[in-house]
Amino acid sequence: QLADSLFIINNYAREYFADTLFNNEEGQNVGLSYFEERGFTAETIKKFQLGYCLNTFDAFAKSAIAKGYNLEYLQKTGLVTIRNDQPADNYRGRVIFPIHNQSGKILGFGARILVKSDRAPKYINSPENEIYVKSRVLYGTYFARHAIDKLNECLLVEGYTDVVSLHQAGVENVVASSGTSLTQDQLRLIKKYTNNLTILYDGDSAGVKAALRGLDMAIEEGLNVKLVLLPDKEDPDSYVQKLGAEAFRAFIQEHKQDFVLFKLQLTMQEAGNDSNKKSQLVNEIAETISKIDKAEDFTRQQDYIRQCSQLLHIDEQGLVALVNKYIR
Ligand code: CTP
Ligand code: MN
Ligand code: MN
Ligand code: MN
Ligand code: MN
Repeated sequence: QLADSLFIINNYAREYFADTLFNNEEGQNVGLSYFEERGFTAETIKKFQLGYCLNTFDAFAKSAIAKGYNLEYLQKTGLVTIRNDQPADNYRGRVIFPIHNQSGKILGFGARILVKSDRAPKYINSPENEIYVKSRVLYGTYFARHAIDKLNECLLVEGYTDVVSLHQAGVENVVASSGTSLTQDQLRLIKKYTNNLTILYDGDSAGVKAALRGLDMAIEEGLNVKLVLLPDKEDPDSYVQKLGAEAFRAFIQEHKQDFVLFKLQLTMQEAGNDSNKKSQLVNEIAETISKIDKAEDFTRQQDYIRQCSQLLHIDEQGLVALVNKYIR
């Protein structure tokens, strides 16, 4: 009941913001121009149901209240907030990215400021409520699920605009973590469609470190994790706009590496000649390998043991014994 009301309000807002973007003068001059400057076509904008919230105190709030929507529910969605005792628009002067569930209903929104500022966050996102539980949602799933299924691979990026730009370039098997580290529920969501997860992050991003922390969890879920490091200062959106669709796809194919081996090489570099650190990382990698379900994927576990022992210059049987120690 309450959930239905929130979905109805979000759907109204989605239509309202999209209508503003295309048919209102400020919407066109500010919002639509912004998307066009970023290289988004009208077709892409319509597909993702992007919008614009006017830079007024309460144009949306007034319209929604006049429609009869309950103020308390409007606040629950985060679309409306109380300022100086008045209902006010929360996303004013921002472009709007609706966040869809797997059947296309709107769970919430990401609202991006047009010009970066120190005084306001780049994105304002919907709060959690009865329908929006962030740890269970990946942005873009609704648009990506068929492609993920067909290609048997899910690409993971950080941001809304990465998903949008990649779709426009014909890369449709992509979802975004929205800048947070992956949760078990999100990994299970991916697992519904494919076992193959490829993470696309920039080389120096905190995202890579967060993904590394989630690696054991992903492996426990039975996912086969690959990584593509983008050049510094690039994200998938900026890089695909720079290279074009063909070259970007070639880059992905050429730079895809196994995430377990990447982690090993990275930690080996960090350990250097420190023998304590070295033995610690051998233990860590053994633990990671032990998480691969042997019954399900015996050869994969063997492959990792062989490759890791070679990289580490240690005895293969020794690593087997260590891995077995971690299997309960
Ligand atoms: N994010 C957020 N709040 C912020 C910054 C980021 O919620 N203040 C989330 C958004 O989902 C965003 C993602 O983290 O899409 C990645 O952040 P970032 O790389 O900074 O933004 P981009 O998606 O690259 O957006 P843009 O290209 O418009 O700068
Ligand atoms: Mn970033
Ligand atoms: Mn960077
Ligand atoms: Mn970006
Ligand atoms: Mn980014």
